[in-house]
Amino acid sequence: MSLGSLTFRLGGDLEIRRLGFGAMRITGDGIWGEPSDREQAKAVLRRAAELGVNFIDTADSYGPDVSECLIGEALHPYSDDMVIATKGGLLRGGPNIWYSNGRPEHLRISLEKSLRQLKLERIDLYQLHRIDAQVPLEESLGTLSDLRNEGKIRHIGLSEVNNEQLAQAQKVVPIVSVQNRYSIGDHEWESMVDACEAQNIAFIPWFPLAAGKLTAPGGTLDQIAKKYEASVGQIALAWLLKRSPVILPIPGTSKVKHLEENMGAEKIALSDEDFQTLRELQA
Ligand SMILES: NC(=O)c1ccc[n+]([C@@H]2O[C@H](COP(=O)([O-])OP(=O)(O)OC[C@H]3O[C@@H](n4cnc5c(N)ncnc54)[C@H](OP(=O)(O)O)[C@@H]3O)[C@@H](O)[C@H]2O)c1
Repeated sequence: MSLGSLTFRLGGDLEIRRLGFGAMRITGDGIWGEPSDREQAKAVLRRAAELGVNFIDTADSYGPDVSECLIGEALHPYSDDMVIATKGGLLRGGPNIWYSNGRPEHLRISLEKSLRQLKLERIDLYQLHRIDAQVPLEESLGTLSDLRNEGKIRHIGLSEVNNEQLAQAQKVVPIVSVQNRYSIGDHEWESMVDACEAQNIAFIPWFPLAAGKLTAPGGTLDQIAKKYEASVGQIALAWLLKRSPVILPIPGTSKVKHLEENMGAEKIALSDEDFQTLRELQA
């Protein structure tokens, strides 16, 4: 069984390793404030880079600002092939409280702040974190398109969108990625995975480990993991890598040990039969 390609050309010009890192979990509880141990958070980021991760997902709202600042502190100056994907368009009212703001003036301010925090002159992938129901999509994306023309954004992506919204967005500006919730047993966005694959757009599944639930031993996943001498989390990530060549899993962790374990998923070549068994699991 072939492992398939472990890399993907994002937007046609950025060669990245498909198994990336989600930097939401390096903040405080509720994705709010500073982490309890900043040095440990930076150690996770540095270890990710050492292990060859060159696709890191973050957002200005993680902390807020904390995740982006830690990435800038830990990894700048970046290696030439490092791609930082950030997002704007969500605001925070407190721990676990999120609300959208897709107004042009807000997106401009957010983008400038992300550039400063990440110590970048251009964001390789800037994702509209949520479509704001109060603002026409054309206005939000029109602003991101302007920022792209100004050289501040290389590529534009979306988050939590359906097929109609993707098509609507593509009338405004080229879209290179969609980030929706997806993992073994979480089938809501199957048709979006297929649509992305058909167009060679990256599909970035958030909650690839179902927020940690898919790392807990038990059931079918556990039996299959034992067969491959792997952890259940590794099997969950290997399944995503096999599901489609456009899938870029971004497991999040605050711990070096978990990061190292997660990266081991790349070495697991699931059989077609095990893949199918896992595909039929219910969330
Ligand atoms: N676009 C959006 O709206 C959106 C929403 C949510 C997330 N995201 C992005 O998606 C990324 C991934 O999502 P996520 O981090 O929320 O969820 P996840 O990757 O599904 O799971 C992360 C959780 O699993 C635990 N974990 C990770 N590896 C583990 C391991 N090997 N063993 C045991 N536990 C492990 C982590 O705890 P420890 O810290 O203890 O390892 C953490 O609590 C985020 O980091 C963020 O970049 C985007």
